[in-house]
Amino acid sequence: MSAKAYLLEAPTVATTKPPVAFTQPAARLAQVNLSHVNVSDSAEHIADAVEAALARAESLNPWLLTCKLSGLLLLNADWASVKEWIRERAVKEVSVGSISGVLKTFLVEPFVPHPQDVEYYVCIQSHREGDEILFTHEGGIDIGDVDAKALRLAIPIDQQLPVDRISQALLADIKSETQLYVDLNFTYLEINPLVVLEVEGSAPQVIYLDLAAKLDQTAEFESGDKWARARSDATLYGLSGKAAEVGPAMEFPAPFGRELSKEEAYVAELDAKTGASLKLTILNKNGRVWTMVAGGGASVVYSDAIAALGFAHELANYGEYSGAPSETQTYEYAKTILDLMTRTPHPDGKVLIIGGGIANFTNVATTFKGIIRALKEYKQALIANNVRVFVRRAGPNWQEGLRAMRELGETLGVEIRVYGPETHITAIVPLALGKASAGATGAGFKDQLVKQIPDSVAGSTPGTPGQMDVDPLRSATSAAPTPAVPQPAPAPVASGEAAPWYSPFTANTRAIVYGMQPRAVQGMLDFDFICKRKVPSVACMVYPFGGNHVQKFYWGTQETLLPVFASLKEAVKRFPDADVVVNFASCRSVFESTKEMLQYQQIRTVAIIAEGVPERHTRKLIDLSQKAGVTLIGPATVGGIKPGCFKIGNTGGMMDNIASSKLYRPGSVAYVSKSGGMSNELNNIVARTTDGVYEGVAIGGDRYPGTTFLDHMLRYEADPGCKMLLLLGEVGGVEEYKVAEAVRNKKITKPVVAWCIGTCAGMFETEVQFGHAGALANSDSETAEAKNAAMRAAGIHVPDTFEALPALLNQVYSELVQQAIIVPKPEPEAPKIPIDYAWAQELGLVRKPASFVSTICDDRGQELLYAGMRISDVFKEDIGIGGVLSLPVMVLMLTADHGPAVSGAHNTIDLISSLCSGLLTIGDRFGGALDGAADLFSGAYDKGLTPREFVDSMRKQNKLILGIGHKIKSRTNPDLRVTIITEFARKNFPATPTLDYALAVESITTAKKDNLILNVDGAIGVLFVDLLRHSGAFSREEAEEYARIGTLNGLFVLGRSIGFIGHYLDQKRLKQGLYRHPWDDISYLNPAAVQGGMGWGTIRLFFATCELELFGSARMGVLFLASERETIIVNDLETISSYVPFMSLQNDNTKNLIHEGSRRDEENASNCGEGVGDE
Ligand SMILES: CC(C)(COP(=O)(O)OP(=O)(O)OC[C@H]1O[C@@H](n2cnc3c(N)ncnc32)[C@H](O)[C@@H]1OP(=O)(O)O)[C@@H](O)C(=O)NCCC(=O)NCCS
Repeated sequence: MSAKAYLLEAPTVATTKPPVAFTQPAARLAQVNLSHVNVSDSAEHIADAVEAALARAESLNPWLLTCKLSGLLLLNADWASVKEWIRERAVKEVSVGSISGVLKTFLVEPFVPHPQDVEYYVCIQSHREGDEILFTHEGGIDIGDVDAKALRLAIPIDQQLPVDRISQALLADIKSETQLYVDLNFTYLEINPLVVLEVEGSAPQVIYLDLAAKLDQTAEFESGDKWARARSDATLYGLSGKAAEVGPAMEFPAPFGRELSKEEAYVAELDAKTGASLKLTILNKNGRVWTMVAGGGASVVYSDAIAALGFAHELANYGEYSGAPSETQTYEYAKTILDLMTRTPHPDGKVLIIGGGIANFTNVATTFKGIIRALKEYKQALIANNVRVFVRRAGPNWQEGLRAMRELGETLGVEIRVYGPETHITAIVPLALGKASAGATGAGFKDQLVKQIPDSVAGSTPGTPGQMDVDPLRSATSAAPTPAVPQPAPAPVASGEAAPWYSPFTANTRAIVYGMQPRAVQGMLDFDFICKRKVPSVACMVYPFGGNHVQKFYWGTQETLLPVFASLKEAVKRFPDADVVVNFASCRSVFESTKEMLQYQQIRTVAIIAEGVPERHTRKLIDLSQKAGVTLIGPATVGGIKPGCFKIGNTGGMMDNIASSKLYRPGSVAYVSKSGGMSNELNNIVARTTDGVYEGVAIGGDRYPGTTFLDHMLRYEADPGCKMLLLLGEVGGVEEYKVAEAVRNKKITKPVVAWCIGTCAGMFETEVQFGHAGALANSDSETAEAKNAAMRAAGIHVPDTFEALPALLNQVYSELVQQAIIVPKPEPEAPKIPIDYAWAQELGLVRKPASFVSTICDDRGQELLYAGMRISDVFKEDIGIGGVLSLPVMVLMLTADHGPAVSGAHNTIDLISSLCSGLLTIGDRFGGALDGAADLFSGAYDKGLTPREFVDSMRKQNKLILGIGHKIKSRTNPDLRVTIITEFARKNFPATPTLDYALAVESITTAKKDNLILNVDGAIGVLFVDLLRHSGAFSREEAEEYARIGTLNGLFVLGRSIGFIGHYLDQKRLKQGLYRHPWDDISYLNPAAVQGGMGWGTIRLFFATCELELFGSARMGVLFLASERETIIVNDLETISSYVPFMSLQNDNTKNLIHEGSRRDEENASNCGEGVGDE
């Protein structure tokens, strides 16, 4: 039987295996790779590099010398002519159509002569619902319209590939290939042509002559190892004995015509190491207009505005920063852009647009600090290049950020013009480009600075957590498959009345927040408070690292407690009324945690915040959520908001913005957008042009959002409270067409205003991937222009530009008012918002006498200061005990003090009691990290765990690694103390295997997050192990024993004794009185506050200072729990049983978190050690 005969049967399903299998000849593909060479390198260097690459290819692929060869462009040539062909083109600019680019990679394979009729075409492509295999009996470049011709096999996302059917119907060996598509996280794979050759006397051969594929870059953490292995020499050239060799990490090249510059690569690397987002694409390095815009959506809007004014050819870069990057990350990002823009002066000077919407959670002051640092550094270059800077930004701490920027403008010698939320987001663009004045484009925009005045607040009513009697897990039959937005959703238990299906958020909705996100939780509680909700919207938190415990929050101005559970199971059991989960798990762990959430019947809505979730994970979650009838919002979103009712996580930003956008009471306009940042901008626009927001959802910027525009638009259509709909679409995808269709079909009858951003995309010469993963048009129909035109044609109100959107909104709204469809309600009094002390202090609004004075040590900044001198300088200048440095001496110096804030330092009364009481404070929570880190790292090393196995096993056990992580320091901003002691050890120690191991662990953890570095506790711990084991002074047994009996802790005690004595003497010298802790810094939690705030029943808290112990009588219904700081009396058994595990299960992680969580001004209280001696 001929091969042709098999394929003609496709896709007929054969029930028995065909008698003849196909074979595949050994893969022969030679690669001549010159990616390390640049066009700007010398001709000699390039020529040498080309010869070296050709020689390497020849030595690895001896068949090159014997076969006739081919590539896509040169056929049937011998190796000598191939080499010549490559030499002529390598690292030179080549034009393909209108695009010119540099060729650096050449693929050479054996020439396979074959007739046209044995060419076939196979393609696997991914869709929202699953994967699809396309197959045609024709192949090659003249294949024509594949979509029209192909036979198709759809594989739903929840089903395994029907390997048998395919292997029998199509190809005998397709099994491994198609599994690879899933395992290696491809999103597209096209083989054209696939050639099937008859071989005399044996099975036909299948040869892939050309292949194009796309990998999902966000799946790096899952498939990165496999990708690297596939690229190893062992795999590519079949080298024996090197099967396990791991090859180079996968590189994702820039599109043809745009070389990935080292600056772009650097920003991509910064981006990969952080949960925040940092993107840079150079469009025209000689362009006059440079941008530094915050937000995936906002950055597109700015590019659109620049292009719309005819400056697309002058736009030098596309980029964005978002997701709360740190000051250092923003500094690095800004520096990269400033460096690029000041290389070649332009006769007309240059323009820098530092733009952005109203951030939800990125701290404007912090990120601007980074930008200001870079601007100062480039002062001379900016002046020399005649750069003018235009700033528009708002969001958390924008007042401070803008103030600092204005101040800089007065001193830098560079024109800096600064605008806030009173100015339309893109109004600075025409201003910067000399086309109009600021404000001209934004209807309803004017100066409206909201004053922040603290005020007292009223009490509140307790919620009623209850016990669940039924199995909370969703059984297979409990939820029939439903549309993406379930209809109808059951009512939250606490409300007592059923919420209609279109209303997942009501004033009774309660949520579980998954992840340690105190700031987001506080934001939700503050929103509740100003909306006058009766019950807090956050029922509890779930944080898998550490045990159950409680965290302090504010309800208005009063402090109150929220429970934190280590497992979701326990959280849903305790709070059966909670039907929303706000999931802050990282992109790596969000898949598993969301799957778990979808199992609980009570959960009706899940919002996924993380960016960078692999597409296959999302598609599976979409499928599971639809089957479970759960509304999935996200991934890659800030969430959504329903004024007066409920706010997801950080949506809406800080309270000043919530107040100025009037989000504390409902309006009539419901919107849906992709971008979280732009949705906050919409809050602002809608508030200024209509009676305000009724509800708003950001579905997220990924290619496959959990719920679509239409899902939410249909809800709004059904919701009588909503009178007018607003859609902010985006280039990429086809979801806007579905909304247009629904309007045409009269499924949506309420007036819709819509705009699709990304109209600039067609004006760029090469393909640009905008900030959102889904923002890339794969076909003409996915462009913003096409979608805007289609929506306009369907009768939707579509403005000409984004700048015209506010006016159009106002016009449609006014018509509705005229028709009495909207009847404006009297404006309620704007709520008074409490202001956080830390923020008030930052704004210079309050002052407070210090309770403690310290002149010897300062731990507040980037680095610990001893008497004003940085600890790294202390080391550098060898100012040590006796001027002699050794590890123990360094440990003594490092551990001597960590500022006046630590508990030990407070116990400075008289010399001896100061020392003794300070020393008594040392324990698990104070100083224990050194021993712990030494023990963990050396234990894992001794067990033979690879660093990855160690990290993974700790993750599986939900444990954080002691000695890893720092709040401020990161790979890009290293801790000099660690650098110095590790360098010292490398120079002076005979061997440092434990240190090397810990640094290998660090390279894995910093790939998750930039600040998960080996901290000073960890470094001291592992170096101490190395010193004991390899100094030669101790036998292995002695070394083990010394580590075990607490020698390292002994050093810590010794070192810190010096610090305690120092503090005592400092207090005496400064004539300070006896320490008394200020009242206003103590939470006096009385029963009313506890009940009122969080509905904790009858828990009473009293202060005491004894160690954790449990005494009392359950029979009497009274229990005392005495902890280090508090004694709790509980007199109902229900609560006792829920509270006991909190206290008794506390471990080190939990304890750290309690402390950190109370610092509410921190961006993210992940469990990062802060250095030696942290409490
Ligand atoms: C989603 C988000 C909240 C997650 O926060 P995160 O800080 O990255 O995540 P976590 O704190 O859970 O920790 C990250 C990882 O570090 C690990 N880790 C933390 N401390 C550690 C330690 N001491 N030792 C070892 N591992 C540690 C955790 O185990 C976790 O591992 P995992 O990712 O494999 O689960 C955060 O990335 C974010 O806000 N991103 C922005 C999202 C965004 O912009 N969305 C769109 C808005 S419009």
